[in-house]
Amino acid sequence: MALMATFELTINEKKQQVVVDPATPMLWVLRDHLRLVGTKYGCGIAQCGACTVHLNGTAVRACQLPVSSVGQQAITTIEGLSENGDHPVQKAWLEVDVPQCGCCQAGQIMSAAALLQENPNPTDEEIDSAMNGNICRCGTYARIKQAIKTATTL
Ligand code: FES
Ligand code: FES
Repeated sequence: MALMATFELTINEKKQQVVVDPATPMLWVLRDHLRLVGTKYGCGIAQCGACTVHLNGTAVRACQLPVSSVGQQAITTIEGLSENGDHPVQKAWLEVDVPQCGCCQAGQIMSAAALLQENPNPTDEEIDSAMNGNICRCGTYARIKQAIKTATTL
């Protein structure tokens, strides 16, 4: 049986305590232990971006982030990106009507929000490079790019 340990985490600006195997990926801590199910499982091997969250503001893949490596760093999930779903990226996503099936979209939004936090006016190439790891099997890429540009104006 795996050895369990207690972790004090800061998630969406709230302190949370979980008792889990230290190797547990943050994706499962969020979804199974804290019921923050906005972060999605796609591939489990850091290849699709569906599980993207922010670690101290940087986009990371929660499926490959062991809970033991997080420490006091701040985790932000799609649930904590804004108070009322009114982050500029979320507003732009609605305006452009980006999602199709939706399963990649929380990850897309988290990657886009991290990009704009770091670079408020990205070029097409910078958008392509930042969003490169977020796969959309519905092919919403053109609308994602349009929405990121719209978000820069909001
Ligand atoms: S589920 Fe984490 S990158 Fe695909
Ligand atoms: S909207 Fe369906 S996978 Fe992206």
